[in-house]
This record gives sequence, structure tokens and C-alpha cells, in this order.
Amino acid sequence: MNEKHGNIKTFIAEELEIFGGPLYMPENITSSRQELDPLNNNDHLALFNNEIKECMKCPLGSTRTNFVFGVGNPDADLMFVGEAPGEREDLEGIPFVGRAGKLLDDILKAIDLRREDVYIANVLKCRPPDNRDPNKAEIENCEPYLLKQIELIKPKLLVALGRISAMTLLRKKDSLTAMRGQVFDYHGTDLVATYHPAALLRNPNWKRPAWEDFKRIREIYLKKRGEQL
Ligand code: URA
Repeated sequence: MNEKHGNIKTFIAEELEIFGGPLYMPENITSSRQELDPLNNNDHLALFNNEIKECMKCPLGSTRTNFVFGVGNPDADLMFVGEAPGEREDLEGIPFVGRAGKLLDDILKAIDLRREDVYIANVLKCRPPDNRDPNKAEIENCEPYLLKQIELIKPKLLVALGRISAMTLLRKKDSLTAMRGQVFDYHGTDLVATYHPAALLRNPNWKRPAWEDFKRIREIYLKKRGEQL
């Protein structure tokens, strides 16, 4: 990073600290596309988080403890999308940190990946009371945030965790069984659906089919990266 780029980063950090988001930049900084190049994807995601983290578009804004933006590699080729934060996630502001999250970490490890290699987010960024399913208005308000995250991260493959996430993203009422094993298109990105880790904790019989899904997810992921299986 050269001195000019360093100055732009400092300017942005100060601007955010003093005024919060959204960020307004003077003409001479925004005028050239090249001038924005010093911002990496991590910066873009941080700016976007800053812009939306006080969201009050739906009533969940006033019941949340924390806005749960997402976590992981800002340039991930593989992105997991859950339904909505649960109690632990709401308290910590990080997706999948409860028991289900621990299981997701173990599954990732089994396919040679770590949480830091992938990106993890939810359809809803705020916890619905008593972990009820997201409603239509909440989805309509929140899904554009997920779309923007996907636009920034540009994953090669999306994995919807659980029927609610898959149904919500694909606007399909099919069973998870019907959706598993297919590759869908979600706004131009390939998407596959598998079991939610919380469902696997409740029903260990699903662990075997879930393992088949994850082996396939690994295959698709490696193929898309041009890597050997
Ligand atoms: N379940 C989800 O769908 N998302 C989380 O972040 C945690 C549990």
C-alpha cells in the first residue's frame, strides 16, 4: 500500500469514527475508480456492516442484542447461509457460535476447511424472538443485505443450511429432501441445500446423508477452484 492509499484508509477510518455510516467522500477521493482500489474486500464488508448495523427496518431491530452481520474470509469461494441468529449468536454478534455452530466447524474440518476459509452469514441479521421462523416482511427487508454481501464476496458456491434458508432463498416450498442433490441458481451464483446443523443435533439419523452432501459440496467447491479432489 503506498502513502496515498494509506491516507485514504486513514480518512475513511476517521470519517466512520466521527460520523458513523453511510460514508460520504469528497469528490477528489471518489472521482477515480482507481482511488478506491486500496480498499480490500474486508474493508468493503466492514463499511457495509457499519452502514446497516443500526437497521430498524423491522421490529427485530428493537429486540436484538446484536446485529449479526457475518464472519469469515471476505474473499471466500464457499459461503454458508443459515436462517437467522439464535440466542448465542444474538449475544455474541457472530453467526453459528452455539452447539450447531460447533458441529458446523467439525463438519468443515472433516472436509479440510476451517471457518476462516469460508464465509458464514444468515438470511436474517437479527434474532427472531424465541427462534421462530423468519416472516415475509423480515425476509424482504433483510435479504438485500445478504445479496450485497454475496456481491462483495463473490463466492463460487452458496450452501443453504436447512429447509427454511433454502426455501426462503429459492422461493420454493419443496421439502429439503427434494432440494438436496440439486444445484440451483441464486441471483447468478450456484446454490446447494443441505441439513441445518441444529437439525443434525436433533436427529442423528440425518448425519449420514448430510455427510454425503458435504462430500459433494467439497467436490463442487474444489472443481470450481480448479483443484484436484
Ligand atoms: N442457526 C442459524 O440458522 N444461524 C445461526 O447463526 C445460528 C443458528
